[in-house]
Amino acid sequence: MDAAAIKDAAAMIRDGRLVAFATETVYGLGGDATNANAVAAIFAAKGRPSFNPLISHVAETADAAKLGLMDARADALAAKFWPGPLTLVLPKSAACPVAQLTTAGLGSIAVRVPSAPMARDFIAAAGVPIAAPSANRSGAMSPTRARHVQDSLPGPDEGGPQLILDGGACGVGLESTVVDLTSDATTLLRPGGLAIEDIEAVIGPLLIAGSDDTAPKSPGMLSRHYAPTLPLRINADAPHAGDVFLGFADVFTPGGLNLSAAGDVNEAAANLFDMLHALDQSGATGIAVAPIPDIGLGRAINDRLRRAVTR
Ligand code: TXA
Ligand code: MG
Repeated sequence: MDAAAIKDAAAMIRDGRLVAFATETVYGLGGDATNANAVAAIFAAKGRPSFNPLISHVAETADAAKLGLMDARADALAAKFWPGPLTLVLPKSAACPVAQLTTAGLGSIAVRVPSAPMARDFIAAAGVPIAAPSANRSGAMSPTRARHVQDSLPGPDEGGPQLILDGGACGVGLESTVVDLTSDATTLLRPGGLAIEDIEAVIGPLLIAGSDDTAPKSPGMLSRHYAPTLPLRINADAPHAGDVFLGFADVFTPGGLNLSAAGDVNEAAANLFDMLHALDQSGATGIAVAPIPDIGLGRAINDRLRRAVTR
């Protein structure tokens, strides 16, 4: 892969477009992690029915430390295993520039320094953290060759990646191992390309998510989903007394916010977590949300809103 392709790919990322790229684990579908519209485009291209938090990929450990708070465990694991197939979930730093949609509104952030040289060169050239889930349609297998990406995702004119940085077959071929360092109980969230034993040799025994009442049950469970602290009402036509209103299209009220005046579900997705956080701190006693059409990213928005209601 030549330097010109990497330069082009980096420019596309800064332009808010998507690029698929080879890592040592699997191919990722990358976008600028600080750009909520680019991240919404990632979810749309994958056809994901829900917003899972994404991994922010950086070129150096020093860049990871700007996004998340690294304690002694994080420093030890980073020194030993980065670059490589290990993702660390850290408390978000105060100055973290990553969009709320990237972390699905959570106060934590998943970071990884991949070891594939092309991936690192690409991320360094982009100059921003790259949000990247595996580059496959939702529910399909993770891609380990450029052809898998091409077969699974829409083309460049249909919302898919503008370019695939082809690094051949992925050396590891399994997603990264995900370790949660947000509490004192170091917890394995996803087994993957780095063996648990290797991690335990550095920082001692891991809790396995789901094996203990104090640990989150499995990826995607409620405990790792952002929900506002105020009661939430969905499919609302208008606010009740004390409510603040989160509108969509022409269903909105003065003094509230509008997810998308144009009625664009991708724009609404990009705004969702920012606006929920803002309204949660508005001093109202409840949040009422206008109906969101159940199409495209509207399904993921509705999924997240329903979970916030029933939490
Ligand atoms: O190897 C990999 O990790 C690949 C390559 C492209 O880097 N990426 C990947 O991303 O597998 P994805 O989106 O398919 O999986 C990310 C995992 C999910 O299980 C997600 O729940 C978890 O990381 N995750 C991300 N942010 C999190 C957070 N703040 N808290 C807890 N889990 C998080
Ligand atoms: Mg995946």
